Amino acid sequence: MKYVCDMLQIDIPIFQGGMGNISNAQLTSAVSEAGGLGTIGCGSMTPSQVEEIIIQTKKRTSRNFALNIAINVSPYTDELIQLIIKHKIPIVSLSAGNPVPYIAKLHEHDVKVIVLVASVKHAQKAEEAGADILVAEGFEAAGINSNLELTTFTLIPQIVKSVKVPVIAAGGIGDGKGLAAALMLGASGVQIGTRLIATQDAPFHDQYKNSLVNASDTETTIIGRSFGQRRRILKTPYSTKLDELEQAGLTPEQYRELTSEVNHVKGAIEGDLENGFINSGQIAGLINHIPTVEELFKSMMNEALNQIEQTSNDLKGLSYKKD
Ligand SMILES: Cc1cc2nc3c(=O)[nH]c(=O)nc-3n(C[C@H](O)[C@H](O)[C@H](O)COP(=O)(O)O)c2cc1C
Repeated sequence: MKYVCDMLQIDIPIFQGGMGNISNAQLTSAVSEAGGLGTIGCGSMTPSQVEEIIIQTKKRTSRNFALNIAINVSPYTDELIQLIIKHKIPIVSLSAGNPVPYIAKLHEHDVKVIVLVASVKHAQKAEEAGADILVAEGFEAAGINSNLELTTFTLIPQIVKSVKVPVIAAGGIGDGKGLAAALMLGASGVQIGTRLIATQDAPFHDQYKNSLVNASDTETTIIGRSFGQRRRILKTPYSTKLDELEQAGLTPEQYRELTSEVNHVKGAIEGDLENGFINSGQIAGLINHIPTVEELFKSMMNEALNQIEQTSNDLKGLSYKKD
């Protein structure tokens, strides 16, 4: 845990996950200012749109932040790598595609490379290719999901056992107990997405935030299975429409269009839940208030520490026969 914090020059091992085209300087800088790793997700944004967010983020914080490139989502991966070098962004996370062609070039420029993985094989390949840190994401998570459908609780210990680089747990973490559990499984920290949406620092539509606060444990759904392009979103009028259209038979192109970043922005920024979708992980059911990022992180760290101490005392208090 300390190794990761020292490597990335952050105070606490909590990463913000990339958030596609709804990424912004406000939330990224709030996460970094609160001691975590803020992240600008590039989604399908043009390099000049991303550059503007980088400039705005640098105005708001002098702390480190990362850029996330979802390789198969962005048509501009090479240009974004040039932007990382130009603006001396010290950390990049690569997801949704093959990271291997980019790692050596980023290392030449002293950029630390985080790779998102969803299986042991994938993790080993990323380590072999030179990834500095792995984020292992379970199927509970919001947004684009691996077709393998493995869960965080099973994925983390198996990946931790099979690689030497630090592993960060993503998917289903929303409080200090989740943080403690991830650390107990051998993770060096956590990456969160859903929980950060419902914060005061996230400049998203109130409909989005309130939908998460009001959601129960069963209120997310997976779309895109029939295309091998899974995405976890909140159940809304638009998700029902997508489900029906998928069952009736869409072409892959139609599916891609209906789940494009344009429809993501409609749902998340404009609050239009009839014509746009909102990503959400299964942990939405745990969210019941809208704190600042700083308050959230403080409570997560305190709760994790208390939970670990209390569980340790409980275990020590058991009357089983020790060797
Ligand atoms: C609004 C939103 C957009 C997302 N977009 C991306 C993305 O562009 N790239 C990516 O790697 N992950 C993306 N994710 C996944 C997050 O980065 C993160 O790994 C995930 O949310 C963690 O699981 P959780 O939602 O259970 O916290 C997105 C998540 C959300 C909530």
